[in-house]
Amino acid sequence: MKTVTSWMKRTVNLALAVGASATASLVLAGCGDIYLPPPIGGATGTPLTEYAEPIEGPSLEGPLAILRSAVSPVPEVVNTNAAKVTLGRRLFHDPILSGDGTISCASCHSLDRGGADGRVSSLGIHNQVGGINSPTVLNARFNFVQFWDGRAANLAEQAGGPIGNPSEMGSSLDAAVTALNASPAYPGLFRAAYTDGVTAANLRDAIAAYEETLVTPSRFDRFLKGDTHALTADERAGAELFVSTGCITCHQGVNVGGTSYQRMGAVRNYFADRGTPLTEADNGRFNQTHNEADRHFFKVPTLRNVGLTAPYLHDGSRTTLDETVRVMARYQLGRTLDDAQVTHLVAFLNALTGEIPAAARLPEGELPPRPVAPVAPAMGAAVARPGVGVGAPAVARPGVPAARPAAPAVRPAAPAAH
Ligand code: HEC
Ligand code: HEC
Repeated sequence: MKTVTSWMKRTVNLALAVGASATASLVLAGCGDIYLPPPIGGATGTPLTEYAEPIEGPSLEGPLAILRSAVSPVPEVVNTNAAKVTLGRRLFHDPILSGDGTISCASCHSLDRGGADGRVSSLGIHNQVGGINSPTVLNARFNFVQFWDGRAANLAEQAGGPIGNPSEMGSSLDAAVTALNASPAYPGLFRAAYTDGVTAANLRDAIAAYEETLVTPSRFDRFLKGDTHALTADERAGAELFVSTGCITCHQGVNVGGTSYQRMGAVRNYFADRGTPLTEADNGRFNQTHNEADRHFFKVPTLRNVGLTAPYLHDGSRTTLDETVRVMARYQLGRTLDDAQVTHLVAFLNALTGEIPAAARLPEGELPPRPVAPVAPAMGAAVARPGVGVGAPAVARPGVPAARPAAPAVRPAAPAAH
């Protein structure tokens, strides 16, 4: 039986093994420490089965063998607390948690948009444009920390943020608890899941319990478990390149990411070349630590379902995977890829699209009809792009006022991201 611990060890050994090759020693030089992920299991501990033993299949050599040892298949989720998960599912989709009843978690993390929102940066209550791209909630439980800058340790801690953020849901946990207590359905649903009924802690816990079920097995997982033919020849070629060009040094672990902070621009200055003004969100991890060495470091995002979550990067500045892969090669690895390599890598990335469990979707009619959210601009339209259109994107730091001159914000002093 493989255990989480042995996987962690394998992950690190891999980084060293790849680092020993000529290509990737360059990467590691710019990479900083390889962080170990904490034991998976999440805040509320919705249990997982241990990683399945690989099914029988031809043994692999070279890059694909390295890939199989660096990335673990998603484990199966064992849902042992249906009352919590069902409550969390409803809360996640319910705009009752927002100040004016228009925004839910699902507004920015839609299951129909790969767990994200398809925008450069999110649109919150009163059409306020946030300062950073919405990451997917799918498989978020496997990230070693939450948020681009890691400011929440786990999903339950994270879930309190957006509710109280004036520019996202524009409410507070206290106000949410009051609204839930006043609603016909929620007091009973909470009591069914928690002895102490509606509390802020239970609200966060239920949402986290639901998010822990958002695990998406894909063809890539079948490949990892030994079914070599689960990937097409192009996807396998991309998988080999993913290892041989060095992507794997940063994007590893069960989420093909989510195990470390790395500098955006590890080997070349991304921000100088981007051609748009620096934003506070661009500081990344620095905003939390105020340590100069952490400037422009971000949690390496998961690549699972990345085919569904355009636009890309924390600044939402890249609209296609082709473009994003070229940016990664250039700024993280100091390489220029040819068109065929890009095509193969993108084919591989698209094979990381998994299946959202059917039970994750809110059954039709479960929520009473509510006022419709404000009409949202189409993907990529009229949203803040660094230095373009709606004005400089705002900050990603709680409590710091955002400079958002042209945004139609009702509360211009609101912080931008939870
Ligand atoms: C207005 C849009 C918006 C709403 C509403 C919203 N989020 Fe988010 N969410 C974001 C953005 C933007 C980020 C990234 C912020 C950052 O990293 O600074 C994020 C980050 C996250 C993350 C971290 C994922 C990762 O990989 O780091 C999780 C989990 C999450 N949100 C869950 C929720 C939940 C649960 C709710 C409802 C209680 C919610 N979100 C409401 C936009 C939103
Ligand atoms: C030095 C570490 C490092 C290496 C090497 C690296 N990445 Fe990344 N990758 C990151 C970081 C950090 C981000 C987030 C950067 C940001 O948002 O500004 C990222 C983001 C991405 C994204 C965007 C994900 C999203 O949801 O927005 C894709 C796609 C990606 N990487 C693919 C690759 C591929 C393919 C390679 C190899 C060619 C690669 N990466 C190599 C660290 C790395």
